[in-house]
Amino acid sequence: MSKITAAITAVGAYVPEYVLTNKILETMVDTNDEWITTRTGIKERRILKEEGKGTSFLAINAANDLIKKRGIDPKDIELVIVATATPDMKAASTAAYTATQIGAVNAFSFDLEAACSSFLFGMSTAAKYIESGRYKNVLLIGADKNSSFINYKDRATCIIFGDGAGAVLFEPNHEGLGLQDEILRSDGSGREFLQATYGGSSYPSTPEAVAEGKHYVFQDGKTVFKNAVFNMADVAVKILERNNLTKNDIAFLVAHQANKRIIDATANRIELESEKVMMNIEKYGNTTSATLPLLLNDYESQLKKGDNLIFAAFGGGFTWGSVYLKWAYNS
Ligand code: UT7
Repeated sequence: MSKITAAITAVGAYVPEYVLTNKILETMVDTNDEWITTRTGIKERRILKEEGKGTSFLAINAANDLIKKRGIDPKDIELVIVATATPDMKAASTAAYTATQIGAVNAFSFDLEAACSSFLFGMSTAAKYIESGRYKNVLLIGADKNSSFINYKDRATCIIFGDGAGAVLFEPNHEGLGLQDEILRSDGSGREFLQATYGGSSYPSTPEAVAEGKHYVFQDGKTVFKNAVFNMADVAVKILERNNLTKNDIAFLVAHQANKRIIDATANRIELESEKVMMNIEKYGNTTSATLPLLLNDYESQLKKGDNLIFAAFGGGFTWGSVYLKWAYNS
C-alpha cells in the first residue's frame, strides 16, 4: 500500500462584520493612517463586537463555511482541533464546544495553543493523525478574538491585531500530496517580549491588575520584529534547502500576517517575487491563529493541484516554524 500523506482538501473562513479602519483608530489613540500603513501594511481589521460571543463563534462560522463548501457530513469528522491564543474560557475546551455546535458529534476535540504559530503547529499535529492511518477526517480551525485582550489605548498593539477564523480539512492522500516537511521551533526566553501577564495561572487577575491594564497584551515590538525577521527567514531557507527546492519551484509563500515588512523580509531571503507572496494583512491585520487559513481561503481559486506552498510563522513564546505542503486540488 502506498504511503499515506495528509492533504488539505477544503478551506473555509469567517471574519466579523465590523471594520476597524486606521481612520477610526486615529480617533482612539495618537496614531495616523500613514504611519500604520507604511510601518505595518495594515489598513483595517475586523472586530467581533457582540457581547458574549467568543473565539468559538468565529471558529464555528469558519467550520460551517468549510462544511457547506465541501459538502461533508459533520458526523464524519473524527477530530476537531481549535488552534487559538484566545480560548473562550478557562477550563472548558473551546474545541469541544465548537465541535458540538457544528454537529461533529462523533469527534474528539482539543485546543492547541502556540500563540501566532498555533495554526502552523496544528498543521503538523493534524497531519500526524492522518499519516498514522488512524483517522481520515481531521478539521483544523485557527481562530482568535484578539480584541478580547487588546488595550485600545495602547497604540503599540491596538493597530496590529484583528479577529477572525479559518478552517482546513485534512484527509489521507495516496498521490504524495499534502504535508511534506516541517521545521518547528520554540524558545521560552522570548516570553517577556510578548505576553498578557495577568489572567493566567502565574498571575490570576486582581482588581488592581485589571485597573492598571495588566491583563492586556504587552509587546516589545522592536525585539519581536527582529526575532520574527531572523527566525522566519531562517526556517524558510532551511526547509527549501533540505527539500532541494529553489524559488522557481514555489507557487506561494504563505506567511503569518503580523507586519508586511516581516513578510517581505522573509520573501527577500528566499528571493521570491512579490506575486508569489500571499498577502491580506491590509484588510485583516494580525489575526494570530487565523492568518494562515484566511490566506488559503483568499487565494484558494489561484491554487492548483501539485503547487508547492511554503508556510512560515512566528509568534509569542517565542514559537516559530516552516511547513512545506503540496496543494491537493483544483477549485
Ligand atoms: O504576531 C506576533 C508577532 N508580532 C509581530 O511580529 C510584531 C512585530 N513588531 C512590529 O510589527 C513593529 O515593531 C511595530 C509595528 C509593533 C512597531 O513598528 P516599529 O517600526 O518597530 O516602531 P517603533 O516601536 O520602533 O517606533 C518607531 C516610532 C517611535 O517614535 P520615535 O521614538 O521614533 O519618535 C514610536 O513612538 O514610531 C512611534 N510609534 C507610533 N507612531 C504612530 C509607535 N507606534 C506608533 C503608532 N502610531 N501606532
